[in-house]
Amino acid sequence: MAEFTTFEHDVLVIGAGGAGLRAAIEASACGCRVGLVCKSLLGKAHTVMAEGGMAAALANVDERDGWRVHFADTMRGGQYLNNWRMAELHAKEAPDRVRELESWGAVFDRTKEGRILQRNFGGHQYPRLAHVGDRTGLEMIRTLQDHGIHQGIDVHMEVTVVTLLKDGQRIAGALGYDRERGRFRLYRAGAVILATGGIGKAFKVTSNSWEYTGDGHALAYDAGADLKDMEFVQFHPTGMVWPLSVRGILVTEGVRGEGGVLRNSEGRRFMFDDIPDLYKNQTADNEEEGWRYVIGDKNARRPPELLTRDHVARCIVREIKAGRGSPHGGVYLDIGWIKEKISNAEEHIKKKLPSMHHQFKQLAGVDITREPMEVGPTTHYVMGGIDVDGDTQMSTVPGLFAAGECAAGLHGANRLGGNSLSDLVVFGKRAGEYAAKFAKEHGQPTVDQGQADDAMRDSLAPFDRAAESGAENPYEIQHTLQDLMQNNVGIVRNEEEMAAALDGIAKLRGRAKHASAHGHREYNPGWHTCVDLNNLLTVAEGVARSALERTESRGAHFREDHPEKVSDWGQWNLILRKGTDGAMQIERRRIAERPAELTTIIEEMK
Ligand code: FUM
Repeated sequence: MAEFTTFEHDVLVIGAGGAGLRAAIEASACGCRVGLVCKSLLGKAHTVMAEGGMAAALANVDERDGWRVHFADTMRGGQYLNNWRMAELHAKEAPDRVRELESWGAVFDRTKEGRILQRNFGGHQYPRLAHVGDRTGLEMIRTLQDHGIHQGIDVHMEVTVVTLLKDGQRIAGALGYDRERGRFRLYRAGAVILATGGIGKAFKVTSNSWEYTGDGHALAYDAGADLKDMEFVQFHPTGMVWPLSVRGILVTEGVRGEGGVLRNSEGRRFMFDDIPDLYKNQTADNEEEGWRYVIGDKNARRPPELLTRDHVARCIVREIKAGRGSPHGGVYLDIGWIKEKISNAEEHIKKKLPSMHHQFKQLAGVDITREPMEVGPTTHYVMGGIDVDGDTQMSTVPGLFAAGECAAGLHGANRLGGNSLSDLVVFGKRAGEYAAKFAKEHGQPTVDQGQADDAMRDSLAPFDRAAESGAENPYEIQHTLQDLMQNNVGIVRNEEEMAAALDGIAKLRGRAKHASAHGHREYNPGWHTCVDLNNLLTVAEGVARSALERTESRGAHFREDHPEKVSDWGQWNLILRKGTDGAMQIERRRIAERPAELTTIIEEMK
């Protein structure tokens, strides 16, 4: 069999965005030998695409805020499918995680009094997002990286993990290969934390970059862990639509938080047309009141552009379908209009949205201080993921933990913008702490060489197939899958299209068995794509199967054939598990009863 190098760690963290870094820091602080594996270079993570801020009820800008309001907002945004324990912990602990980042060197924007400034975002009742212009995720990564680097963590860059290893029921480590040379690496570890982010590359239009192929989701699923609520995929309302080469790149919600408005080709603010009952009492019904909210009038209600992302994305699609879109298939997002309201508008926009100003100038030749942007929905985030315990973040496989986007629970049916950065550090820290505890209590596992041999043989199979007559091109399979998911399991869904998607995925699975790679293992992106295909197909099937099963519309999951929210469905999470025959099984699991005091908070906040 192929050769490999062995590495020994107490805790192995797979994924080095905000959650992975925070988990690694914590496990290391607990005295563990920690390995941190990144698929690309350290610091390159989707975390940086959470640009507008980190939600935490610091109450620096509005003293009425507090963990209770944040908890209630998160539950309402998630349409009550959330793991309520995670929503509670998140709301309570996020302020401490912001202050901790500050103490580690993060430079947040400030209020006039010198406190951490907070901005408005969709679905948050008060200005709640601690931010650094529109580069908050980047600042988080920079801070965690700087802090983590002094902790003695072993960083393994540019490594793809192909399988998790088990010792009986418990986790024993992982097998991967370095992407440059293609040499195998066996990581033996007492506990493993998955922090691999999302699945955006299963869709055609996405804010995610090439790394996000659902690796953690698929690794956990193949190792026997449960996945939960995979039907809930978030389409961020505003991605770039033009030029085509940059389609999908994120346009931060911070633009709307700073007063940006959405208009159709007739120049009308169409978001006033449809305000959901759940948010009627919190949403302005006229332009004047919406603007007063933006500039801090505590008695004003928020503009409809700051409704939840699922709703805003659907309204945009409605305008485009009705023929009221922009020339390149989007709608208009206008921040330049605030010059009618404030004298220093140009300076303000450049200060608060420097990346957006730069991005549009460089990529589209648009000056956002004067001209509207063309925007449309982009696949941004998956709410579904690995089912974990709310306190410890351990999955259903002993010793296997998950944190951040690849873990499910906190966000329910729809995530509020800004809740991901706080999710990463709140639950990254918890995963690190409990993984360290698990590793110490259970000691080092035994690794079964046979599992490693099988994984190496499967990984290398694409080279053997290159000479076969039916050899398939992995890029073609990937592109077909992306089209299939975009067209059939996107923002608006129906039974016929999702059934066709499942059929298509099954056929692609058959083709993927013949995916081939030419040449040798060094610097071979065709081979990497062959390896990614299993993960992409698993998460795509998970999304389609769950979406077909949920015969209602809720949060980010909208079915035109079942457009109503069905109250009984509000009791159920959908669980996916790999059956003994290798087929994907789906079951409903009733949501655990909520403690009375949390229900009282939700009722009071309504
Ligand atoms: O729009 C944004 O800045 C994204 C934030 C998020 O996804 O949390």
